[in-house]
Amino acid sequence: MLTELNQGDFMRGVQRIGLVGGLILFFVVLVIALVKFNLSSTLLSSLSSGNVITPEHRIHEPGHLIDYDRDVRPILADNCFSCHGPDPHTPEAGIRLDIREDAILSGAVVPEIPQASPLLRRITATVPNQMMPPPATGKKLSASQIETLRRWLAQGARYSPHWAFVNPIRPSLPTVRQQGWVRNAIDYFV
Ligand code: HEC
Repeated sequence: MLTELNQGDFMRGVQRIGLVGGLILFFVVLVIALVKFNLSSTLLSSLSSGNVITPEHRIHEPGHLIDYDRDVRPILADNCFSCHGPDPHTPEAGIRLDIREDAILSGAVVPEIPQASPLLRRITATVPNQMMPPPATGKKLSASQIETLRRWLAQGARYSPHWAFVNPIRPSLPTVRQQGWVRNAIDYFV
């Protein structure tokens, strides 16, 4: 009787230790996994995925300045320059979209007025013989690419960044023979 009771207690004790030990082991493994595989950042970003801002989202923020080289040129190069670029396969297209003056003079681009720009009309066209790129090319702009081009037109169809938006570059200091004479960085320039 007594030994049976002790045996029961003993088994329950073993079970409890097994449970606690398992939990401790689980957390130790979890912590090692987090540290070793840097899971924390992926976990955190998936937890807050509703708020993650990707460059794609940023383009559509009001006030975000579309950058020709970064945002626009890749779209035009992939979809338009084969016919409207420097070396067009179809010169009959007659329009170059890689040079701002040409794009404006040909009438394709009306800076600041996207709705008046044939460029926007053609990339949003639903009639096949108006669609750009032509359906025969098998290419099609995504809604997000169309929105990028629309905003770019609205912002003035800039082909290079305005000087005001380019980070100033600190000029390297000229070397001066009489080092003792130089008191501060300004002196290098006078
Ligand atoms: C496979 C060649 C080809 C590609 C690629 C192509 N185009 Fe065209 N595009 C033409 C041709 C040919 C014309 C002239 C005939 C016409 O008006 O449909 C033309 C005409 C145009 C016009 C003149 C419309 C007007 O009313 O004056 C615009 C704007 C235009 N394309 C924009 C684009 C844009 C933007 C892209 C890329 C998203 C593009 N095209 C891709 C061949 C192409």
